[in-house]
Amino acid sequence: MSEVNCLPSADQYEPFERIYQWRGNDPACADATRLGENALREGRVAAVLLAGGMASRLGCEFPKGMYPIGFNGESLFEIFADKIHALQKKYGRFVPLYVMTSDVTDEQTRTFFQEQNYFGFPPQDVVFFKQGNQGAVDIATGKTLYSAPGVPAASPDGHGGVLSALKKYRLLDDMTRRGIELVCTFQVDNPLIPLADPEFIGYCLFDQAELATMVIRKNSPTERVGNMVKKDGVVQVIEYSDLPLSVAELTNPDGSLVVGYGNIAIHAFRLDFLVRVLSNERFSLPFHTVKKKVPYCDETGVLIHPTQPNAYKKEKFIFDVFLQAKRIALVEGARQLCFSALKNSLNSDSENEETVRADMKASGLFE
Ligand code: UD1
Repeated sequence: MSEVNCLPSADQYEPFERIYQWRGNDPACADATRLGENALREGRVAAVLLAGGMASRLGCEFPKGMYPIGFNGESLFEIFADKIHALQKKYGRFVPLYVMTSDVTDEQTRTFFQEQNYFGFPPQDVVFFKQGNQGAVDIATGKTLYSAPGVPAASPDGHGGVLSALKKYRLLDDMTRRGIELVCTFQVDNPLIPLADPEFIGYCLFDQAELATMVIRKNSPTERVGNMVKKDGVVQVIEYSDLPLSVAELTNPDGSLVVGYGNIAIHAFRLDFLVRVLSNERFSLPFHTVKKKVPYCDETGVLIHPTQPNAYKKEKFIFDVFLQAKRIALVEGARQLCFSALKNSLNSDSENEETVRADMKASGLFE
């Protein structure tokens, strides 16, 4: 192959068939909203909160969902709970909330919900379940890390671990019993999340897709969001860390980015899609190698909390299941109304408490 053929080319990325415009007067908006509202009214929608992460960049001593990001000190968990209460008020049905925790977050999360009286949820409508773990190796030596003498350091297996955890705890059966049709997954770090929004979930039904996912226009070639692309005829996400700069910077003749849409981890899956995928015994998500801060025990037995990523570990990413879908509805969200993520401590100048509060204020969604 000649060198020229190896260069990244815009042709490798195909245009999407259609992108629905959420809150953008899409011609399908009224139909989608009606379908979504009916699903909510009939109790056919569930939500799954991915809250097993270690919050290592934020560096807080408690699960990120407990972070008091609201203007009156409301935690992220409370903000999500308020959104579900608002849906209940409008549509008369509770959206059951499945909270995925991990060994790192489970105990404190459960205790917090208990102390907050489950935010007024009917007890049967909030379900906790724990994701699995993966070991870690030292970046410098390649050796296994230990959390105590003889005990390998285990940390959560990535939010893609949600699929095997849903299967392990038979939660898809639980959803089937409740008559659920759509399963909305969302991350714990985004207070702007349009949680089980009728127009958004309605596009999944309107489009007769197996899943819908909300995307935004990237604000720079290297914005740290997954990249939504269509390649080899398949809609998929390429994580920011896996996209070469030369590809990220490719532009169309009109100057727009070729890889211009970002994944904001707001998905709505048809339950029958998840059932189909997970009933295949041979199915599993691939592992990605990531660099993380993993606490470990040194030779003297002292537990060290690293301040920089010190470990390679393997994680599964939920969006890899997109490759199993026969049809995906892409929905473009207006960033100021749907996405601002709390990732970092105030030592970083982006995606921190201050930027998130500023975005919350600008959204007009919070008092
Ligand atoms: C993630 C996405 C990225 C997206 C961005 C939007 C991945 C790999 N990357 O990046 O494409 O643009 O969010 O904000 O998904 N979590 C678990 N268990 C785990 C690991 C994470 O529940 O084992 C949860 C966290 O609690 C958090 C979310 O998943 O809610 C995000 O995890 P993180 O690994 O920090 O992904 P990002 O790099 O933020």
